[in-house]
Amino acid sequence: MALTEVENRLLPRALEEIQREVDACFDTLLPIPDDTRAKLIEAMRYAAIGGGKRVRPLLLVSTAELFGVDRELAVLVACAVESIHVYSLIHDDLPCMDDDALRHGKPTVHLAFDEATAVLAGDSLHALAFEILTDHNAIGDPFVRAELAGALATASGMNGMAGGQVMDMAAEAVEYDLHSITRLQQLKTGALLAASVEMGAILGKVPPEGRAHLRAYSRDIGLAFQIADDLLDEEGDEELAGKALRKDAVQGKQTFVSLMGVEQAREQARMLVSQAQGHLVGYGHEAELLRELARYIVERDK
Ligand code: IPE
Ligand code: IPE
Ligand code: MG
Ligand code: MG
Ligand code: MG
Repeated sequence: MALTEVENRLLPRALEEIQREVDACFDTLLPIPDDTRAKLIEAMRYAAIGGGKRVRPLLLVSTAELFGVDRELAVLVACAVESIHVYSLIHDDLPCMDDDALRHGKPTVHLAFDEATAVLAGDSLHALAFEILTDHNAIGDPFVRAELAGALATASGMNGMAGGQVMDMAAEAVEYDLHSITRLQQLKTGALLAASVEMGAILGKVPPEGRAHLRAYSRDIGLAFQIADDLLDEEGDEELAGKALRKDAVQGKQTFVSLMGVEQAREQARMLVSQAQGHLVGYGHEAELLRELARYIVERDK
């Protein structure tokens, strides 16, 4: 059987499995209390359960698997990353940011609940990530706990996702060149994807000097991922994407697509994927899922 046929069969099943596992994990982490916080937790569940491709969790568990990490532990840590991601989406959709009405095919959190609840659900998911990572019952090794928390904090804050979001909002008014757009994308989207891979390696107790190939891989897929998101915004199907599209151009937002045009952006994304896969040459069949995931990241329709 050709290798690509094997790969093509690996990914759909792996996505299905991680989606199920992450849903179950959030279900356990977010019981609805019998008091007036119920609405908050319901909003967190509404955003966190039953939507999303779970690319970051799959990156994390697939990397962890390379190093023989216990699956249940990897899934829990993956939920910490996904918790940050879900929070970032809730806030990204707020009227003060992208002002979006649809996410994962259903009304955004501030519309299904209200704005204050959406802000607080985001805040609480942000906190939940670090509650998970600092739980000594779940993660026994204090060095691993600290490194995981540090990696996720850096990827989420001013030098990561939040910093990138600010640059992204400025992209409606400021003239960015390709270098600045690349930096923006690396922070806004790349940082959290890279943290997912990094955290898989941390769980596997791979020393920093042993992570260079994985870091190079995740840098490339991080950029490719956002180019794919911008391409989807330009020419995707709203029904499939489950969110409003054609917004970047309307808002005059500069992206890779606006700077390079559709064809060149697509070409760039493809080039990044094969470059990413190239960084995994030192691994054998065990890295097949990571290779396939790189391709999925640009070929996805949602
Ligand atoms: C969307 O991320 C927002 C970006 C960072 C571009 P995803 O495409 O991973 O969102 P879901 O979770 O699968 O919906
Ligand atoms: C959002 O980017 C990235 C985040 C950090 C949440 P976009 O604004 O392009 O994401 P979508 O298109 O709304 O999913
Ligand atoms: Mg945005
Ligand atoms: Mg948005
Ligand atoms: Mg987008």
